[in-house]
Amino acid sequence: CGIIGIVGKSAVQGRLIESLKRLEYRGYDSAGIAGHMDGRIERRRAAGKLRNLEEVIAAEPLAAEVGIGHTRWATHGAPTEGNAHPHAAGRVTLVHNGIIENFAELKAELTAKGRTFASETDTEVVAHLLDEHLETLPPIEAMKATLGRLTGAYAIVALIEGEHGLMLGARHGPPLVVGYGKGEMYLGSDALAVGPFTNRVAYLEDGDFVALTHDGAQIFDAAGAPVSRQVQTVAASVALMEKGNYRHFMEKEIHDQPEACQHTLSAYVDPVTDHTHTPGGVDFAKVDRLQIVACGTAGYAGQIGRYLFERLAKLPTDVEAASEFRYREPAVTPGTLGVAISQSGETADTLAALRWCKAQGLKTAAVVNVHESTMAREADVLWPTHAGPEIGVASTKAFTSQVSALTALAISAAVARGCIDAAEERRLTKILMEAPRLIADSIQVEEAVRALAPELAAARDVLYFGRGAMFPLALEAALKLKEISYIHAEGYAAGELKHGPIALIDQGTPVIVIAPTDHLFEKTISNMSEVAARGGKIILITDEAGARNAPKGARTIVAPTADPLIAPLVFAAPIQLLAYHVAVQKGADVDQPRNLAKSVTVE
Ligand code: G6P
Repeated sequence: CGIIGIVGKSAVQGRLIESLKRLEYRGYDSAGIAGHMDGRIERRRAAGKLRNLEEVIAAEPLAAEVGIGHTRWATHGAPTEGNAHPHAAGRVTLVHNGIIENFAELKAELTAKGRTFASETDTEVVAHLLDEHLETLPPIEAMKATLGRLTGAYAIVALIEGEHGLMLGARHGPPLVVGYGKGEMYLGSDALAVGPFTNRVAYLEDGDFVALTHDGAQIFDAAGAPVSRQVQTVAASVALMEKGNYRHFMEKEIHDQPEACQHTLSAYVDPVTDHTHTPGGVDFAKVDRLQIVACGTAGYAGQIGRYLFERLAKLPTDVEAASEFRYREPAVTPGTLGVAISQSGETADTLAALRWCKAQGLKTAAVVNVHESTMAREADVLWPTHAGPEIGVASTKAFTSQVSALTALAISAAVARGCIDAAEERRLTKILMEAPRLIADSIQVEEAVRALAPELAAARDVLYFGRGAMFPLALEAALKLKEISYIHAEGYAAGELKHGPIALIDQGTPVIVIAPTDHLFEKTISNMSEVAARGGKIILITDEAGARNAPKGARTIVAPTADPLIAPLVFAAPIQLLAYHVAVQKGADVDQPRNLAKSVTVE
């Protein structure tokens, strides 16, 4: 969910909405705002997208100068208006991101005291608790007492009737950012939320709570002791938040990839000497094993990384979904480096897995795009990606930036571990530095891909196959299609075809094969013949030489010829564009697909 709060000196309604638009990527099941109006706190809420809320406030404006706003990704309770935030109880109106784990118990207790609940949410119990404590305590003390009762992960921002210039916030898990303006103060779930108003922010630490007035912020740690948190200037470039001439953020972000990869590579490669370096001074010679943890697309980037670390640097590498890793009591050895990969740096499961590694005494690194995020701050080492803000829920440029960073790190590891000499390092680095240009060339397949979209949009199931590093790319391709077009899709290792998936193939099942010309191409061609013999409709994504050797009847999408080192980067854009154009063809909401959120800060 996304949160914004403004202690303003002029009308805030428009600004709350502006901020919520930037936060919609965190959830868009419902939205709402609230503010002080004529001595009372009034709310406006609506189910569905933000435009529904805009209609509500057009009919009934909220004339407030101090207000809060929320865009929701439902956890407890359906995405209805009644469950939309802000939630209110007595004098309190508040918004919340996260989950209150002991809400059922608290609700029972409050109900027994005669309190009645208007929603099914866990959030409402917080409003009631705070309201109850306000009967006997001043606001800051009441907040502290309330937080003491909560178990779970949450960011909360609250308004209190009768306390016009005051806003309370608390962070335990999901991030909360304090923004410093001129005679105004802000709270937001990330720096993007407060970006339109200020670039001076302080990140609350876990357990902190805060009291905001027009003049500043009083911050307290979990024990209630006053603390100060460093105010930083963030580069929340407004330009990067605009769609420009593109129809969707996803489309723009696909086209941003050459630049995003270039920026990312510049953090790892010296363009003059062609040497790679490892930010944060990790000595790969002293690392015995990499344990990569991530979710979704970031996990597939990690799987591609595994092929590279093991092949180039002979560094044993495991990759696991963070949600499994964190609970399965894995056996890790002391020389293991824990590596979290995450665009947002806030995904709850990945963060928990990272913390678990730290608690085992492992050194940790985080490949993260939001450099002020929790993971970036908590990992021992930050391995940055420089994709810029990614807004489309389906990750594209963050993915290729992660793969770029991992490729450079694998070369660096290979040098450190004595697997390659300086000449080989230069050769590989030169190849890697060609990736941004070749990604730009691969985006040129867009017309060819668009032409295939109507046919794929009519499919019920689509299968993707690849070998080597093209296997995780096949998994990512299937995820992209599922996420935004709602077509069932699966990715498989091409060699596994005969062990099960071939049973799915009948007349007309689209089978997309990702196969650049490499030492595995011949093998993949035989797999394709098995598909063709059973009536599968093959679409081969390959390079020029591959297209010449395509089996009869296969249609081809011809991407640039690329060294196997960078093939996952060069072949990413075609599969992303394919998913994109199929979704557009189906009229789907590309940037905000149903049920998904960009940043999932609950487990
Ligand atoms: C969500 C998004 C995915 C993303 C995953 C991990 O599920 O919808 O696109 O890959 O979270 O996000 P992260 O920010 O950790 O990379």
